[in-house]
Amino acid sequence: MDSNPLLDGLRIEPAPGPSALVILGASGDLTRRKLLPALYKLSAAHRLPPRFSVIGVAKTPLNDDAFREQFRASLREFAGVDATGDDVAESLARHMRYVDGDLEDPSLYTRLAETIDDVAPGSGVLFYLAIPPALAPAVANQLGHAGLTREVNPSAWRRVIVEKPFGSDLDTARELNRLLHDHFDESQIFRIDHYLGKETVQNLMVFRFANGMFEPIWNRRYIDHVQITAAETVGVEQRAGYYDRAGALRDMVQNHLMQLLTLIAMEPPVAFTAESVRDRKMDALLAVQPICSNGDCGGAVVRAQYAAGWVDGHEVPAYLEEPRVDPASTTETFVALRLMLDSWRWAGVPFYLRTGKRLPKRVTEIAIQFRRPPLQIFRRVSASPVAPNLLIINVQPDEGISLRFEAKLPGSRLQLSPVMMNFRYHSAFGGEVPEAYETLLLDALLGDPTLFARHDFVEASWALISPVHEAWRAEGLRAIPQYEAGEWGPREANSLTDDGHRWRTL
Ligand code: BG6
Repeated sequence: MDSNPLLDGLRIEPAPGPSALVILGASGDLTRRKLLPALYKLSAAHRLPPRFSVIGVAKTPLNDDAFREQFRASLREFAGVDATGDDVAESLARHMRYVDGDLEDPSLYTRLAETIDDVAPGSGVLFYLAIPPALAPAVANQLGHAGLTREVNPSAWRRVIVEKPFGSDLDTARELNRLLHDHFDESQIFRIDHYLGKETVQNLMVFRFANGMFEPIWNRRYIDHVQITAAETVGVEQRAGYYDRAGALRDMVQNHLMQLLTLIAMEPPVAFTAESVRDRKMDALLAVQPICSNGDCGGAVVRAQYAAGWVDGHEVPAYLEEPRVDPASTTETFVALRLMLDSWRWAGVPFYLRTGKRLPKRVTEIAIQFRRPPLQIFRRVSASPVAPNLLIINVQPDEGISLRFEAKLPGSRLQLSPVMMNFRYHSAFGGEVPEAYETLLLDALLGDPTLFARHDFVEASWALISPVHEAWRAEGLRAIPQYEAGEWGPREANSLTDDGHRWRTL
């Protein structure tokens, strides 16, 4: 049937039914920085239902009004919004409640149940575990034992969002999955990886599967290698309590970079449904060859820690001098890996991954380098060899996609030069790109798990990563390579690409 142009612009966006969001860990950083501003933006865009409440739960003793004040302060600080006299903020604030108490104390959950009955009778309830990972098992248990996870009818649904890190190794992730499954069905569990909510990351699937021209060349015949970089200029900031026990491999690779890798490597799903998409990503993850063999991962992973240096024109201290970092810590702030996939599509194509803190600039990108043409017919006229085609997916901050190809320099002599064809979100579509947390909160309220990690994905990812940690543990306190803050990681990382490639200079 032909589409009716009169209906354009009238498409009805799906809206969640009456619901409540219960934020466990409501006085923490994530709530202030991300969740409260995301709720405000969703409300301003009319994406929240008319009957919607927020219940904050945390140990800090606060009353409802003080929590509402925290909400206004978070809008001021992190969304640049002055909530005074702002109708959207005031209407959200009126539907906010706060329950304080010890998250391990059962009586807190009795009070929480009463508050839910009070503000959202018969509504759906989304629990957000914005708490330190060590508390997640206890809180999931308490919610279950208090009967808060039982769905009495379809509109009174119960769901839970679990923040990363999901466990700290394969065993703890399995245990957390087991425990969640004691109280929730898998369809009720939303394991968040905020990278999946980024517009550019969602666009990866659109780019690959809504265009006919890329898929035929998306394989080992045409692609030489793939580089995924997530570079940050920030150091460990105030988060050493968590970070010093995590390190870059747990913090960034096990989740965010593995998600990016599988979105690049996956086969086309048969439909854009949660299970079909997640099945294909899972296949891709299972194709990744083990990183270590018999405790030896030397050739495939390089880790390092930042030493003092200069970033963005400021002198910054070494990781070991940061507040709350163990002075003898061997936690890595940089990690680089070379991964190979056992699949018909990717056999023999290296995937290089790197991420680190205190690198020269903040950039997350995926670079897909194509093979050179089989015959170098311009060899005699061109001083330098023909540069291979390169497709760069810029995840942030300069969101877009670029394609590099060779062109003839104008002039009577035949001379070649690489040029870029650029698509930039901002200039193409204008407006603001929504924050990942807005997309993901809304999807969870709608019950759509496509952009959330399934239980088997997190376990398979840990199954690749945990042996690396075991190998590092076996190395004991052997000194970890250092890189000067403001440099692109340690020299040692070049050993991963000495198979004829090199890291991109960004
Ligand atoms: C978080 C990590 O998951 O992602 C942080 O814990 C990291 O260490 C952050 O800084 C990066 O996210 P983004 O969206 O700024 O790339």
